[in-house]
Amino acid sequence: MLGEKMLNALNKQVNNEMYSAYLYMSMSAYSTYIGLKGFANWFMVQYQEEMVHAMKIYDYINSQDGQVKLMAIAQPPTEFASPLDMFGKTLEHEKFITKCINDLVDLAMEEKDHATNIFLQWFVTEQIEEEANDNEVISKFKLVGESGNALLMIDKELAARQK
Ligand code: FEO
Repeated sequence: MLGEKMLNALNKQVNNEMYSAYLYMSMSAYSTYIGLKGFANWFMVQYQEEMVHAMKIYDYINSQDGQVKLMAIAQPPTEFASPLDMFGKTLEHEKFITKCINDLVDLAMEEKDHATNIFLQWFVTEQIEEEANDNEVISKFKLVGESGNALLMIDKELAARQK
């Protein structure tokens, strides 16, 4: 059984995760448009991960006899200054999501909602990986730069991502 505050906050997080999916789908589309298939693959895999995140919360709300209420998904950006800019924006967005998850945990603790607190621990751990993945790619750019050859090399690496 979820309290009203917790239910509303979880529904908002479904929306945040759906927006994340939409954002990375937009980045994948842009990458395809500019001819970077590896980047397009990386962001499409990330899109799929975000859909899994949204559905985990969706299923949890249902399992607690709460009502899932879907909200409008904001339009994501469609133009990016560079491939590195996409990863800068991705990391910035994931830091925002980490804060959202931490706020949800704080609320679960305030509400003494132990089940939701335990449920959210998976997301706490997942956010460490999410930020680390972005930092890893940004580090590659720092190492090799953003020239044509460097971009193609990073694109080849990002093409290998499967999950
Ligand atoms: Fe679902 Fe990338 O956080």
